[in-house]
Amino acid sequence: FENVVSMEDLSAEDVLSFIHEAQDFKAGKQIALKRPVYAANLFFESSTRTHTSFEMAERKLGLQVVNFDPSNSSLSKGESMSDTVKTFQAIGVDLVAIRDKQNEYYKDLIADPNVHVGIANGGDGSGQHPSQSLLDMMTIYEEFGHFEGLKVAIVGDLTHSRVARSNMKVLTMLGAHVYFGGPKKWYTEEFAKYGEWMPIDDLVEEMDVMMFLRVQHERIADDENGSFSAEKYHAQYGLTAERESRMPQRSIIMHPAPVNRGVEIADELVECDKSRIFEQMHNGVFVRMAIMTSMLRNRDLIKEEY
Ligand code: CP
Repeated sequence: FENVVSMEDLSAEDVLSFIHEAQDFKAGKQIALKRPVYAANLFFESSTRTHTSFEMAERKLGLQVVNFDPSNSSLSKGESMSDTVKTFQAIGVDLVAIRDKQNEYYKDLIADPNVHVGIANGGDGSGQHPSQSLLDMMTIYEEFGHFEGLKVAIVGDLTHSRVARSNMKVLTMLGAHVYFGGPKKWYTEEFAKYGEWMPIDDLVEEMDVMMFLRVQHERIADDENGSFSAEKYHAQYGLTAERESRMPQRSIIMHPAPVNRGVEIADELVECDKSRIFEQMHNGVFVRMAIMTSMLRNRDLIKEEY
C-alpha cells in the first residue's frame, strides 16, 4: 500500500494478508532494505502503545527512526501539521506514522501533490485506528482461526471510539456478528447499523469476544465528566468478577488500552486467563511491521524477505 490510513480502504483479503504477514514476522521473518530508510513518528496526540510500537516495528525492520517531540517542535510557533510532514520529507524521511485529534487529517496530506512520504495512520480523532484494528483482528484470528460466525461485543464509550468505528466494519466484513453494550446514550444510529445493543449481563453469557473500550474523559464534555461515577459505571456496564465467571470457556476479553482499571474491567481481571490485553499489545508490533513493509514494498525499497 502507498499509505495505510483507514480500514475502509481494505478488503477482507487485504486484512487476512496483513494478519498472515504479521504472523510471519512474529515467527521470525526479516527483511533486508535496498538502502538506508528513515521513519518518523509524528504523534500530535498522546500515545504510549501505538507510538512505541511503531518505533519498535521500524527498528525491527532495520529502519532508522528520526525523533519528534511535538512539545519542543515548531508547532509551538504555529507551524501546521502539513508543513511539519513536508519538513520531515525534505530532510529525507521516507515513512511516517501520524496521530492527530482531527478526524481524517490524512485526506489533505494524501491529496497534496507535494507529499510523497508513506503515511501510516496511528489514529485520527474519533475516526479510524487501522493498526489497532489489525492487531485486534490478528489477536482474534490467533485465538479462533476464523471470523465467520464469531460473536463479538464492543462495550463502552462507542461515540468517541475510533477503535469501535474501525472494528465494527471490519468484523462485519469478515463474517463476524457484532453486538454493542455500555451506556445507551453512546449507542447511536451509526452503531445500530452494525449490530444490536444488549445488556452486559446477557452479552457475557453469549459472546466469543468481549471487547471493552476506555471511557475517553478527554473527549467528554466537562459537565458529563463531572457527573460520571466510576463505581456506578463499573456496576452497570463493566466486567465484574461475577460477570467474568459466566463467560463461556473459550471466550476472551480484549481492550485496546489504556484501561481505566476498575471501571471498564475489574482490576484483577485485566491480566486474568481470558484476557488478551497484553497479547494485543505484543501483536501490535508485528502488525505495524506488516504495515510498514507494505509501504516499503510499494516504494520498491525491499531487497530481500527471509
Ligand atoms: N491503544 C492505543 O491506541 O493506545 P495508545 O493511545 O497508548 O497508543
